[in-house]
Amino acid sequence: MKLAVVGGGSTYTPELIDGFARLRDTPPITELVLVDPAADRLELVGGLARRIFAKQGHDGRIVTTSDLDAGAEGADAVLLQLRVGGQAARERDETWPLECGCVGQETTGAGGLAKALRTVPVVLDIADRVRRANPDAWIIDFTNPVGIVTRALLQAGHKAVGLCNVAIGFQRKFAGLLGVAPADVHLDHVGLNHLTWETAVRLGGPEGENVLPRLLAEHGDAIADDLRMERAIVDRLGVVPSYYLRYFYAHDEVVRELGTKPSRAAEVAAMEKELLEMYGDPALDEKPALLGKRGGAFYSEAAVDLAASLLGGAGSPYQVVNTYNNGTLPFLADDAVIEVQAAVGRQGASPLSVAPLDPLYAGLIANVTAYEDLALEAALRGGRDRVFKALLAHPLVGQYAYAEGLADRLIAHNREHLAWA
Ligand code: G6P
Ligand code: MN
Repeated sequence: MKLAVVGGGSTYTPELIDGFARLRDTPPITELVLVDPAADRLELVGGLARRIFAKQGHDGRIVTTSDLDAGAEGADAVLLQLRVGGQAARERDETWPLECGCVGQETTGAGGLAKALRTVPVVLDIADRVRRANPDAWIIDFTNPVGIVTRALLQAGHKAVGLCNVAIGFQRKFAGLLGVAPADVHLDHVGLNHLTWETAVRLGGPEGENVLPRLLAEHGDAIADDLRMERAIVDRLGVVPSYYLRYFYAHDEVVRELGTKPSRAAEVAAMEKELLEMYGDPALDEKPALLGKRGGAFYSEAAVDLAASLLGGAGSPYQVVNTYNNGTLPFLADDAVIEVQAAVGRQGASPLSVAPLDPLYAGLIANVTAYEDLALEAALRGGRDRVFKALLAHPLVGQYAYAEGLADRLIAHNREHLAWA
């Protein structure tokens, strides 16, 4: 089985390689191709990747290339994990919205829109080339903003599934607190990528006993601490929001906080420099602990599991993915992309049914879906007016004076990445 990773020169890649090495039989990989335009990074990351495979006794071949067409040739699945404009563009996304009093974040709010506008055309081009190289290949999209990018891929007719590590992070966390195996924890996970709530935590499977009330009673402090939310808020909701909800529920507080510290992009850029130096050390043959300080914990396990299921191997029968709504949330269009538990297999992902949602969550989901519609329009067709409308529709913007100021800044800071600007 051949797998290609586009953005394979990412400092995150050893995480992924570690997952494929540890969980080597699911799926059995004979060739892993790391594709990246940055040849220098690719060499460092590729070298470490080979050492990790060797140490773990994995006999799969690791190939590095800057030629996407050759890399995708014959691949059964292609993982997309790229960041157009790198940490420099991310740093701008995290900074200029603050000038307008709005959250500066790489996937939420105006920064997330900027990222979508830079990314969607690039990903669609890559996906077309992947399809030409191998029409049957599955595309697993990690590229943010995952909801909008996945919708762009599906709308263009690609065989794509979007993936994020938030759900698997909660699954691992809750399993630890409950003292059970992660595979025994089934989450009722609902919403859009980076806008989700765990409405039940079940033991054994989708019909299992809901232990969320017990989990909150016994471990509410630990859970709230991780989210950086007050326990009282989590208790009052009775469900566990993802930490991205803090940008909504505590927006002004977050804006004040962000104004007083270096951006996450700057932190990550410093870590990446250090990581690349480590990767160049021929004695290093495992993923360094420093990678654990990145947000992508467990993303390799989610990727291995999903690839295994899509390619007919022994993946988990149900996984949290991003895919078409198709009636799952009755208040959204069928072609909206949602993030929920789905049955996954060779045919792709089909969402499990979701219990009727409290308007407290449904309202925000519907609102952000409307923003995502408009954001995708802006990404595909360009133009300041479309950017402005997407911003106006976003619940964290909403006022025209903000939308005007943000639209101007978004375009000024991203001209080199926007063909129409
Ligand atoms: C989480 C999110 C990812 C995001 C990452 C950022 O894992 O689910 O979508 O890319 O955080 O982590 P970083 O270490 O780059 O801040
Ligand atoms: Mn994510």
